[in-house]
Amino acid sequence: MKILILNGPNLNLLGQREPETYGRATLGQIEAMIRKKAEQLGVDVDFRQSNHEGDLVTWIQQAQGSYDAIILNAAAYTHTSVAIRDALTAIKVLAIEVHLSNIHSREPFRSSSMIAPACKGQISGFGPTSYLLALEAALSLLDKKTGPV
Ligand code: DQA
Repeated sequence: MKILILNGPNLNLLGQREPETYGRATLGQIEAMIRKKAEQLGVDVDFRQSNHEGDLVTWIQQAQGSYDAIILNAAAYTHTSVAIRDALTAIKVLAIEVHLSNIHSREPFRSSSMIAPACKGQISGFGPTSYLLALEAALSLLDKKTGPV
């Protein structure tokens, strides 16, 4: 099983960026956490970050036929990107939206997710654990036998 984990703009700054909101873990540390969990679960993960909307769109398009699921933290593009939503809708790959912070408890504009309708579900507010929960959700949905529930 192969899972593509995509991270949007400014997530490369985790660790130093608004730690009171996003915590102190760097993106590299979050990746290491995910890789450890993925190894335990027996899944392959690719982990990428870009500050550019087009990169995310291209990676989502390319996921068709190569990955079983996409875990996506589109960061600020969550709230604005019709292009990312359309890319997710165009492919037939299970997608799960994740956020470190609880986007529903912050500024009103963050409560609205442009990409949510194109995703199976949303996990928001658990810090780096949001990604681990998404990994478990993906596995559970893809293979009832290996999933946690
Ligand atoms: C975020 C929430 C977004 O609103 C914000 O623009 C981000 C990070 C999160 O993981 O909490 O950059 O996606």
